[in-house]
Amino acid sequence: MFDGLTAKECLLRGVRLVGPSALSPPAVTLEPHHALLDIAFHDFQRNGASVDVVHHALDDPSPLLLSEERAVPGRAAFSRVWERNRLAHMVSLAPATAEGGAHGVPCHEVAPRIAVVPGDGVGREVVPEGIKVIRALGLSFDFEELPWGCEHYERTGRMMPEYALSTLAGYDAIYLGAIGWPTVPDHISLWECLLPIRKTFEQYVNLRPVRLLPGIRCPLAGRGPADIDMLFVRENTEGEYSGTGGRVHVGTEAELAVEVPVFTRRAIERCARYAFGRAQERSGRLVSVTKSNASRCSYVLWDEVVGGVARDYPEVQVERVHVDAMAARMVLRPDTIDVVVASNLFADILTDLGAALQGSLGLAASGNLSLGGAGPSMFEPVHGSAPDIAGQGRANPVGAVWAGALMLRHLGYDAEAGRVEHAIETVCAEGRVLTGDLGGTATTAEVGDALVGALR
Ligand SMILES: NC(=O)c1ccc[n+]([C@@H]2O[C@H](COP(=O)([O-])OP(=O)(O)OC[C@H]3O[C@@H](n4cnc5c(N)ncnc54)[C@H](O)[C@@H]3O)[C@@H](O)[C@H]2O)c1
Repeated sequence: MFDGLTAKECLLRGVRLVGPSALSPPAVTLEPHHALLDIAFHDFQRNGASVDVVHHALDDPSPLLLSEERAVPGRAAFSRVWERNRLAHMVSLAPATAEGGAHGVPCHEVAPRIAVVPGDGVGREVVPEGIKVIRALGLSFDFEELPWGCEHYERTGRMMPEYALSTLAGYDAIYLGAIGWPTVPDHISLWECLLPIRKTFEQYVNLRPVRLLPGIRCPLAGRGPADIDMLFVRENTEGEYSGTGGRVHVGTEAELAVEVPVFTRRAIERCARYAFGRAQERSGRLVSVTKSNASRCSYVLWDEVVGGVARDYPEVQVERVHVDAMAARMVLRPDTIDVVVASNLFADILTDLGAALQGSLGLAASGNLSLGGAGPSMFEPVHGSAPDIAGQGRANPVGAVWAGALMLRHLGYDAEAGRVEHAIETVCAEGRVLTGDLGGTATTAEVGDALVGALR
């Protein structure tokens, strides 16, 4: 199918060709003396210099061996493998032969495998619309549904099976609806499903765009799409949601509960670096949210680490803003805010305010990015299971569809992500097919259909 394409052409088309050995990570070992380059996925996508390096490597005709016994003859192999416990992209060239891939097995285009966890309530209504839109792009993604969530808990006593995390580790990404239902205490549904996924796979950045879309009425008087376009980078593995704590003397007068925020230099720094990188790509402005006036330890460390990272990004103008002042500023001067980096709790709260500024919680999207290769990343709408409207076909699917676009971009399908975002803008700007939260009368599926119709 890809005969006649050079490695460079494959790469530039976003096609991933893999040898059979790369299909079963982590079995691959690498021969360092062959032409080989590994590029962190994010750098590869975002960093022009890295792309140049890739091109340079692709001009190198040295043969590639993925392992001693598994020579990959045939054309270029653009393999995705797990190595040294991190996801890397391996790019190399091998001289062309007639046989194709290793052991005569042809190289394949590998469709990304997506674990779909619709979860609870409206999660089950909006996720199918996201899949509908991605399929309409003509992409043959392999979506596999995992029926985990509160119903699973009621049946089995667990939010997800014991082997869930190792199952998820085998996927390229996770597409999630919402987790939580009134029959299960929220701290159980969250701590036995979402948080273990975020922490185990070190999805250390929670990326949340806050954009007022054309056609959507902003609750702030006199504000339009040009005023509200922020990108929140939320630390997603520790901080106030570290899980450190306990309760004693439960049910007695002396009952006591302690919950300790945990901040580490490592986690703050990696999140801050990502935020500075995004600020560099956008306006060059970054707000770091803190509360180091009242809190004498954790947010002081936060400020110090962010300040240290700032020295590596002299072109980014970084501003420290206390969380309470930030809440007011998002309402009063949203146009002065671009990229924001904040702790787990602060960004959690501020992005719900952000979703309100966008016109509806049903519009907001989120990506939990595992950038160090500890596992797949996870994409989800910001909203929860919305028990008040679940089962009625009234949920707005745009947040879930937008999360699908974030997933496409993360997987390297930039053009397709752009097409989905454009469709979202078109449907909102036209204003004919909108759900009730945006003043319309359309059903969830009708909005999904309109988005499909607006794809170019
Ligand atoms: N990431 C997650 O999975 C996640 C996030 C938040 C809440 N939750 C869980 O969801 C459950 C309900 O929580 P909640 O009520 O606090 O928040 P929620 O986001 O479910 O609902 C808040 C309000 O927003 C509305 N809303 C939410 N999604 C909408 C959509 N797509 N279209 C139109 N309106 C929408 C709801 O009708 C409701 O009025 C709880 O169990 C909670 O723990 C899960």
